[in-house]
Amino acid sequence: MAQVSQDGRTWLLTGPASSYAVHVTDRDELVHLHWGPRIALADAEALARRPLPDDWPFESRLDGREEYPVEGGPRFTRPALSVRAGARRGTEWVFDGHEADDGTLRLRFRDGALTVTLHYRMRGDVIERWVTLHNGGPAVELLRADSATWTLPDREQWRLSQLHGRWAAESRLTRSPLTYGEKVIGSRRGHTGHQHLPWVALDTDATEEHGEVYGCALGWSGSWRICVAQLPDARVQITGGSGHDDSGLLMLDTDETHVTPVFAGLWSDGGFGGASRAWHAYQRTYVVPGADRDRPVLFNSWEATGFDIAQEQQRELAERAAAMGVELFVVDDGWFGARTSDRAGLGDWTPNPDRFPGGLKPLADHVHALGMQFGIWVEPEMVNPDSDLYRAHPDWVQFQPGRRRTEFRNQLVLNLARDDVREYLWEQLHGLLSAAPVDYVKWDFNRCFTDAGWPGDPYPQRLWTDHVHGLYGLLDRLRAAHPHVAFESCSGGGGRIDLGILSRTDQVWTSDNTDPLDRLAVQHGFSQIHPARVMAAWVTDSPNTMLNGRVSSLRFRFVSAMAGVLGVGGDLTRWTGEELAEAREWVALYKEIRPVVQRGDLYRLRPPEGGLSAVQYVLGDETVVLACLQAQHHGEPVPALRLRGLDPTASYECRESDEVHRGAVLLHHGLPTGLRGDLDAAVFRLRRL
Ligand code: GLA
Repeated sequence: MAQVSQDGRTWLLTGPASSYAVHVTDRDELVHLHWGPRIALADAEALARRPLPDDWPFESRLDGREEYPVEGGPRFTRPALSVRAGARRGTEWVFDGHEADDGTLRLRFRDGALTVTLHYRMRGDVIERWVTLHNGGPAVELLRADSATWTLPDREQWRLSQLHGRWAAESRLTRSPLTYGEKVIGSRRGHTGHQHLPWVALDTDATEEHGEVYGCALGWSGSWRICVAQLPDARVQITGGSGHDDSGLLMLDTDETHVTPVFAGLWSDGGFGGASRAWHAYQRTYVVPGADRDRPVLFNSWEATGFDIAQEQQRELAERAAAMGVELFVVDDGWFGARTSDRAGLGDWTPNPDRFPGGLKPLADHVHALGMQFGIWVEPEMVNPDSDLYRAHPDWVQFQPGRRRTEFRNQLVLNLARDDVREYLWEQLHGLLSAAPVDYVKWDFNRCFTDAGWPGDPYPQRLWTDHVHGLYGLLDRLRAAHPHVAFESCSGGGGRIDLGILSRTDQVWTSDNTDPLDRLAVQHGFSQIHPARVMAAWVTDSPNTMLNGRVSSLRFRFVSAMAGVLGVGGDLTRWTGEELAEAREWVALYKEIRPVVQRGDLYRLRPPEGGLSAVQYVLGDETVVLACLQAQHHGEPVPALRLRGLDPTASYECRESDEVHRGAVLLHHGLPTGLRGDLDAAVFRLRRL
């Protein structure tokens, strides 16, 4: 809800626990007033009456206080908006009014023919912010247009949390003190990237369950940048948006409008855990489509059969998967065109006639007859030079005239900014989903942009942005035409995970690293922002074939993967009868706890670094604890797990031990786990009596 002061120059947004306030001065400067616990409009008005400091030649009175710092005039911070019109750069706006009718607050400013509108929408305590730019005059160049700048309150020493990584090692959490200057994270790769999730959190003294945490997360699946700046007077601002630098985002023609992606912000006083739970609830309620429906247990063929796939062999895998209780069978790479290795076939989305003589339908029908859904892998934005598509349309890829075309994994990136490319992909994919009863699409993206050129286009720079809009448009169109089909976002594992892709996919592939121990750290980081409901996790073979040869028990592999959307990805033809039978029990157990895991509140009881790690989920009267012990040392007893989110006055029955525990005892003295040795793990189900 937005409230506005009598003079129409101070606004207050209110969520269940938080407030946010801004003010336009009599010089039309938009200043930030408050972001934090709930306040009243009168408090915001009192803040608005506090004078800004005086200008002087070496510092700006606006820096660190402005809601959306534009380039130009008395400002020295990194601008959120940078516009070039002919020989003139920068923006000098006048306030042009506000609207707050439909749950969104819009603040409008004008600079000549350019209208800049700041949008604010409360979703619980998450504030979604974005900006629209409308050009009523001759073409202007948008060098930078961030979605929002967030201003933190004055505090002594901020600490920055971020999720860094690389291929097979995504979303690992680090925390470091913020120092003077700028800390910039982002992607120059054309996709969200494995290197950073587009999220940061700032706190001064928070713990897992206590203290104030400010966080923000970007909804954009292309290149992006978030800059956290500690200014000379120690004030902190975070500015972020699409695009990696200020050298040209788009050309905005006469009467064109540019809409930035959403940059969402959240204040919480429940520590890192409270902030995560609020982010999770926000995504389940407002972002992820159909998040009230639980995701099925899937089998994926990639680690089992790689590129070497055939109909008979997939049928056999499907039979074993079905017997295990798997609900969705996914044929990964290798089913189409001349795709017998990563050297050929991308772009030709028709089933390989040697491998699938009757197309995919016979296998899909068999899978359905076994009682499972059927899924396929695609990588539509790419092409192998050795493909019919590339031979017919070598100009459909991104390339720079007269330059080498960089091949990564023997593939080039299609130019999705082109109408003909998007139309071709629509026809191929729509045809595919219409020809066989496909229930699920794993949509991959396996290389970064390197030669983002578009010979012949007057402003090729736009392909960075238009590629992403092209991808979003295709997904939206396919979802509308095939509403029963679920989509997974994959990019060599977790290279494309953000609020933008999550608003049009059902789950994401977290990492190509399926080692159950490494996964604990990846999942710990992932859970800082995204819910278990979208986090795919597979049980694969031991020794681990993809990465490190680590040997682990089925128990450990299952408990690690049960923390998200469970999948199985091992070569089931090589699993023994006992292994298959044990796996069947784990899958049955997962189905039982699934509603609690996928829809419950997550409490991270212990981080993975400590040797013993555990997560707890609470939904209504049900509680699930997943505990993993990396290694026991010196025969020391493994500590009991102090649970959270329980009623201290209630009693809880543990299904594993049949014991009844007092809530207060579980909260203050903990649940004994009985774990011992190396790579041990256990699941505990508790029900409130
Ligand atoms: C990427 C994905 C894998 C698999 C392969 C297939 O690496 O992350 O899961 O689908 O592509 O080529």
